[in-house]
Amino acid sequence: MAGYILAIDQGTTSTRAIVFDGNMQVAGSGQKEFPQIFPRSGWVEHDPEQIWDSVLWTVRKALKEAGLEASQIAAIGITNQRETAVVWERDSGKPIHNAIVWQDRRTASFCEKLKARGLEKQFSKKTGLLLDPYFSGTKLSWLLSNVKGAKKRAAKGELCFGTIDTFLIWRLTGGKSFVTDATNASRTLIYNISKNRWDEDLLDILDIPAVMLPEVKDCADDFGICDEAHFGAAIPILGVAGDQQAATIGQACFEPGMIKSTYGTGCFAVLNIGKDIVRSKNRLLTTIAYRLDGETTYALEGSIFIAGAAVQWLRDGIKVIDKASKSGDLAGQADPNQDVYLVPAFTGMGAPHWDAEARGAIFGLTRATGPAEFARAALEAVCYQTRDLLEAMHRDWKNAGEGTVLRVDGGMVVSDWTMQRLSDLLDAPVDRPTILETTALGAAWLAGSKAGVWPDRKTFAKSWARERRFEPAMEEKTRRVKIKGWKDAVRRTLTKG
Ligand code: G3P
Repeated sequence: MAGYILAIDQGTTSTRAIVFDGNMQVAGSGQKEFPQIFPRSGWVEHDPEQIWDSVLWTVRKALKEAGLEASQIAAIGITNQRETAVVWERDSGKPIHNAIVWQDRRTASFCEKLKARGLEKQFSKKTGLLLDPYFSGTKLSWLLSNVKGAKKRAAKGELCFGTIDTFLIWRLTGGKSFVTDATNASRTLIYNISKNRWDEDLLDILDIPAVMLPEVKDCADDFGICDEAHFGAAIPILGVAGDQQAATIGQACFEPGMIKSTYGTGCFAVLNIGKDIVRSKNRLLTTIAYRLDGETTYALEGSIFIAGAAVQWLRDGIKVIDKASKSGDLAGQADPNQDVYLVPAFTGMGAPHWDAEARGAIFGLTRATGPAEFARAALEAVCYQTRDLLEAMHRDWKNAGEGTVLRVDGGMVVSDWTMQRLSDLLDAPVDRPTILETTALGAAWLAGSKAGVWPDRKTFAKSWARERRFEPAMEEKTRRVKIKGWKDAVRRTLTKG
């Protein structure tokens, strides 16, 4: 076997399949966008059948591009948008409703009610998360209460709940495997991250029957065999991790204190904190980074909802660029004497503010403000927010001290201007790796190492290579003034305190 591994990366707006060869290089890939469904303001759904079709299509495309038969693939690794909740019939595999996507805010008032009952502390202590609609638990509760007959059927064991990984594995294995991994479980709001099991008290509070939950496995484990009906050969599924955790693995952040930040639709910074749980006092999340050989490694995570989406807004909303790749060049032409700040709270603010009601705002406009200043403000906002997350991490965990180098990945990091500004505003170096497909690579490594055809953790970590390091070059005084301006803009945008 030549060590070919197939990674399926099922993301929020598109599905990607990548075949890696035994040298961990991309041999072929396929990508397909699928429709976003917005039934009401603040609601976001996906049709699970469209997701499934996109997986079949992209895998076939990737195999074709690589010039391979399915029988040449040693193993499959799966990584996915996290928190998104699907419920389907155990008998037929048919979803009972569209998937409710992580961005969906429909359970905001339910979360507020739970908070008013004084329950946030209990949820936080057990799950490391906060009572926010972002996580799966209240979405599942909504599905059980709002789809006719669902609660009764779930109690009788007729329905299955899963995040996207679980749904895909169920489909790939023809309903033979009903499983998830510890990282995806850790985002559901019903998984106890210190005991590593579904939490009965939380299930009671949310009225969710345990019988509808999948078995939770290590990230590199036996998740079942993909039926040969799909791609022409039976292939074992040996690796699974939520996409931000897979990126953490792909960036080889295996040591406590190592940190990666992924700039996709949103931005997710993940700091490896090792084997002991650190509870955030600054409204970050404590989550499972990975569980390997039964041993759990934890992380502090900061989640920002708008990063690349701000560039999309420049392109599709106010139309100051025609291509996302032009945003950095335009920002570079901005007048340094104009202090324009954009707070992109388009869907509320995530960590560390968690203000669901806040909406975007722009400050400092003058008659001279034009497209370049808007572009700079949008890109800088992503940098300032990363800084806010890292500051919170440093306050939460003394070991995340000086000397931290941020490893970056995701679509936005190809912009040199943005990465230089990120380093300038963080006052810390930023490392961009040679392989930017870190999420898929992380999932592939889990599967490839489990299959015994890819290197072990140490050797894999050594193979991580930097393409470029960005060093801070901004004057201290300029940085201080800019950060003060940003903090002031955020304060004026937040709806609470
Ligand atoms: O928590 C949400 C995250 O997993 C989504 O990531 O890359 O699909 O936007 P992405």
